[in-house]
Amino acid sequence: MVKMDWGMKNRLSKIISPKTGKTVMLAVDHGYFQGPTTGLRAPKESLAPLLPYADSLFVTRGILRNCIDANANIPIFLRVSGGPSILGELSNEDITTSMKEALRLNAVGVGMSIFVGAKNEDRTISNLGRLVNEAEEYGIPVLAITAVGKEMERDARYLGLACRIAAEMGAHMVKTYYCKEDFKKVVEGCPVPVVIAGGKKIPERDALQMARNAIDEGAAGVDMGRNIFQSDNPVGMIKAVRSVVHENKPVDEAFEIYSSSKS
Ligand code: 5RP
Repeated sequence: MVKMDWGMKNRLSKIISPKTGKTVMLAVDHGYFQGPTTGLRAPKESLAPLLPYADSLFVTRGILRNCIDANANIPIFLRVSGGPSILGELSNEDITTSMKEALRLNAVGVGMSIFVGAKNEDRTISNLGRLVNEAEEYGIPVLAITAVGKEMERDARYLGLACRIAAEMGAHMVKTYYCKEDFKKVVEGCPVPVVIAGGKKIPERDALQMARNAIDEGAAGVDMGRNIFQSDNPVGMIKAVRSVVHENKPVDEAFEIYSSSKS
């Protein structure tokens, strides 16, 4: 087993709670290819009330510098890849933010997408290898994001393939989508913690059920965005998601947390 450096261990402990072994990451990086996404048109205003309930914030350096108070006590997970917009070839990504920037911004981790099965899969996968090489030098965990785009069916076979490749390249954590069948196998085939993205906005109870299923099937938590910040009660929703992830609450109780705090 590889002996982990103190810095790497310390950063990981800020991402994944040592108490519960789980994490609620708040993903707000959508603008890096989608522009002003619904719910994030005014990031400063929409994000401030959510920060106290997130274990870390997954964000680009631009939104971080311009919209997040440096006094906010929130670990920063920096999105460091980009390139194409939603109008272009999504897999045409490269590393856009240096490790020096990540250190300057006091990031606890860096994240990038790989596009398995898409036009530029090979380049994005080798970029991940290079990012891990550099991140290991400074003790910074790398999150690999898989299965963004529409090229492949998001079933367990595909997600398992993408997650395993990410881990083989050295990613310390992997973010992927939940699949109804055999998600457990996706997790089992990936030797590093797997967190799920929420995907498109769905009814709150369904999003909580998805988080519940993912946790029950071995996920280390969520890196959720739209199902929180596009909710009619974003604070209630993130509290409800936390209760599932960290307190093992059943969906009915979590849904009550969401709905009882609705004004
Ligand atoms: C997109 C991302 C997003 O952070 C990810 O999709 C999570 O957000 P959501 O829960 O809205 O899907 O990495 O490339």
